[in-house]
Amino acid sequence: MSKKILVLAGDGIGTEIVAEAVKVLNVLQAEGAIDVSMQDGLVGGAAYDAAGDPLPEETLEAARASDAVLLGAVGGPKWEPLHISKRPEKGLLGLRSGLGLFANLRPAILYPQLADASTLKPEVVSGLDIMIVRELTGDIYFGQPRGVETLPSGERRGFNTMVYTESEVERICRVAFDIAMKRGKKVCSVDKANVLECTEMWREVAIQTARDYPEIALSHMYVDNAAMQLVRAPKQFDVMVTGNIFGDILSDCAAMLTGSIGMLPSASLNEKGQGMYEPIHGSAPDIAGKGVANPLATILSVAMMLRYSLDAAPAAERIEAAVSKVLDQGLRTADIMSSGMRQVGTAEMGDAVVAEL
Ligand code: NAD
Ligand code: IPM
Ligand code: MN
Repeated sequence: MSKKILVLAGDGIGTEIVAEAVKVLNVLQAEGAIDVSMQDGLVGGAAYDAAGDPLPEETLEAARASDAVLLGAVGGPKWEPLHISKRPEKGLLGLRSGLGLFANLRPAILYPQLADASTLKPEVVSGLDIMIVRELTGDIYFGQPRGVETLPSGERRGFNTMVYTESEVERICRVAFDIAMKRGKKVCSVDKANVLECTEMWREVAIQTARDYPEIALSHMYVDNAAMQLVRAPKQFDVMVTGNIFGDILSDCAAMLTGSIGMLPSASLNEKGQGMYEPIHGSAPDIAGKGVANPLATILSVAMMLRYSLDAAPAAERIEAAVSKVLDQGLRTADIMSSGMRQVGTAEMGDAVVAEL
């Protein structure tokens, strides 16, 4: 039966990179490797401009009715002056919470061809394969109370609240442990249990949940140390599990180990098996409209979509192999360029992947 994909390009480089990912889907569709129907929708600044709302009801409904959502990126300077409730980022957060996409998988894998593209020494990153499991619908992103209030003195006070329930922690830990059982069986839970009660509880629940997974080696690390260890000796990690805000920051850091943030895909999954797939990077206003953005994170997100939501693992493997072959050919977008390689733009990179499929 045909699967439904909602395509939300969003803002900035979102439209450029999603166009390349859609090319890949179209080719697989044309040759019968997948059976999908694609529908476009509006989210973020584009949706605000068209409908006055970064997440129109129509988009959320279409997302709920889809098997998978492909998203580019949202945001940009144009919309920064808006009230926070109308900003593009609220559209993305509304999709995550509205669909219950609590499990965000961010694989940081170094393609060996890119060992020189990383700012770290090749021996530090070669063979890197980390899965970051980020909780995506809780934490300080969604906790109440939140806001800015004016005190009697006239001074303003801003506040956000870090919140997790035990069931939310247990649920994301199970996702991480299940993934680790199919890999190196090592999970590092990242918290700030030395300072924050919320994450002290996180650590207790992680330990309790791990009792159901006797084969898993569970370790714990404070987030500040984890950031340092990621650049010191990243290959010590197999699976990392952490909350929403720590996972946001650590995954950008891990992205650079793979050569560029333009290489890191992601899957955001709910309990029903629906997923939203997007690169971990943003709308990159500094390079938007220039045709130079790296589309590989988005193309690799399509591979995750085929694997996790569309039951098409062989096609996913073909996409990943095609990306590898294109890198073998020496084609590089500006962000992963190194000496002796041939620099190409967004569309040329997408076309090269399609040609290798
Ligand atoms: P960003 O990820 O957009 O950009 C950071 C840096 O990485 C920039 O120099 C950019 O040019 C570069 N970069 C990012 N993606 C790239 C790619 N595919 N190829 C080459 N270079 C790439 O982060 P930012 O500048 O902090 O944020 C810009 C906007 O994007 C903000 O409005 C932010 O809220 C939004 N944002 C959205 C998402 C999302 O939609 N998931 C994620 C992060 C940031
Ligand atoms: C990401 C982004 C988002 C986040 C923003 C744009 C809401 O940085 O997907 O990593 O903080 O989760
Ligand atoms: Mn982020």
